[in-house]
Order: sequence, then structure tokens, then C-alpha cells
Amino acid sequence: MEQYSEKVMQHFNNPHNVGEIPDADGVGTVGNPICGDVMKLYIKVKNDIIIEAKFKTFGCGAAVATSSMVTDLVKDKTIEEALKISNKAVAEALGGLPPVKMHCSVLAEQALRAALADYYKKIGRDPSAFEPKKDSHEHHH
Ligand code: FES
Repeated sequence: MEQYSEKVMQHFNNPHNVGEIPDADGVGTVGNPICGDVMKLYIKVKNDIIIEAKFKTFGCGAAVATSSMVTDLVKDKTIEEALKISNKAVAEALGGLPPVKMHCSVLAEQALRAALADYYKKIGRDPSAFEPKKDSHEHHH
């Protein structure tokens, strides 16, 4: 069995901010290519500050715990600050994750970035800062 910190167990057993925001300003849905789990993250933004965040996860315990932590961490943060929240920061805030579970925390980071990008698209700003960096220099014939 994986060794989870006490904090992970707390968030898993009693996750914060579970649910949907029906009139969300941004929604991010991401799938984890490693395990196939899916996370959906909703944010409500006012004056560039995230005033509410909720999530739904079809995933493992670590995914539930990191989602819960991410929604706690982004609350009352500016978009700029939220952008700096990495999966490592989330894992650290949880007292660490077993190495085999680090990929689960990536889901939370990406769902957050996807939700922020969705918000930017809605208000007509360039969302490219939020998109995971891809190699766009493929050669086509
Ligand atoms: Fe899928 Fe953790 S095993 S998110």
C-alpha cells in the first residue's frame, strides 16, 4: 500500500470544495494519460481574483486530495498567483505524495490551468500563457 501523509488522508476523507459551480467563469477538464482518471475544476473570478473553486474528480485518493488542496490554495488568489501554483507546491502543501502518485498531482495543476485558460478565452484575453507547453515546430508536408 502507498504511504500517504496524514494531510493527504484528511483531504481524501473529507475533501474540500467538492461539486460544481453552475455559473462558473472558467471550467477545466483534464484527463490523466497515465491512469485515465479525469478531473473537472470550476472557478469563479471577480476582478482577477478567484473567489471560488470547486472540483469533481473521477480518480484515485491522491487525485481527490490534490484537487481538494488546489481548490483551497487558489481561493482569494489573483490569476497571476494561481498560475504559479505547481503540482509540486500542491504535493508539498499535502505533506508530500508517494513518488508513484506524483502524476496524480499533475492532474490538479493542469485542471487549474485549463480553467484559467477557459476564463481568459471567455473574457477575450490570450490564454496561451496557461496552456501546457507543446512543441509547435513539427514539420508538415
Ligand atoms: Fe489516476 Fe491518481 S491514479 S489520478
